[in-house]
Amino acid sequence: MPPRVRKAVIPAAGYGTRFLPVAKAVPKEMLPLVDKPVIQYVVEEAVASGIEDILIIISRSKRPIEEHFHPAFDLETELAAKGRDADLVELRRMQTMARIHFIWQPKMGGLGDAILYAQDHVGNEPFAVLLGDTVVTTNDAKPVTRQLADVVETYGGSAVALQQVPREKVSRYGILGGDEIAPDLIRATSFVEKPKPEEAPSNLAVSARYVLSPRIFDHLRKTPPGKGGELQLTDAMASLMREETLHGLRYDGARHDIGNKLDFIKANIHFGLQRDDIAPALREYLKTLV
Ligand code: G1P
Repeated sequence: MPPRVRKAVIPAAGYGTRFLPVAKAVPKEMLPLVDKPVIQYVVEEAVASGIEDILIIISRSKRPIEEHFHPAFDLETELAAKGRDADLVELRRMQTMARIHFIWQPKMGGLGDAILYAQDHVGNEPFAVLLGDTVVTTNDAKPVTRQLADVVETYGGSAVALQQVPREKVSRYGILGGDEIAPDLIRATSFVEKPKPEEAPSNLAVSARYVLSPRIFDHLRKTPPGKGGELQLTDAMASLMREETLHGLRYDGARHDIGNKLDFIKANIHFGLQRDDIAPALREYLKTLV
């Protein structure tokens, strides 16, 4: 039986050049959706998926992420003194929901390079990867990382979350081709990073969530730089696919890519409309705009 998926890696070192000027000094992962930073949604998805240990990969200017998850005893004392019990409980929950560790990626060498920094921490067990700038919501009760862990705990190998995208947009994503072995479950036969539409094996795009076999590290080490001169996780997974199975899971839900300005604004409206405290007033406001 393949081992249980207990660990997750969250790459959050990228510069956020699509979100300048704010991303110069504020990590895009710390931008709020209503009142919670994006990375907290990502960590909560991991925890709701059964993950107990999280490694966040950071770089210069990403220190606020560390502070966000570290205990803040002075703030706890202040909230306790003011009788703000609900806020205190929430603060403590956030600081204790998982064991969270940090490591620096010194130079931006691509997603594959970032994952290599996790090797010592992960060791020899399957692990989840959740891109730190993307919130994924599902229409099922199970978070998508849990759904991927179920696939790997059943079949072994690795698994990625997939979403169908229009043909003309395939060159923005890792695209997976293969055979549908069960509804929404595809056994991969090809995997290409950002192909031209005429070279894409399908229109199924990787959507910010993975569960990877630890064998990926060996393949990352021998994979040459790919698209953009960077070490691409997709290329190493395509190499791994020749010795272990790779499944793609088409999930029912939405991907909110916060590095993208329009998606960021839409995500704030999406999550705002789910919040009892502001939804009625927000709905009224939106009506005045159309
Ligand atoms: C990365 C991956 C790509 C994937 C995308 C969205 O690209 O390299 O395969 O489809 O995330 O999850 P990026 O958006 O960092 O260019």
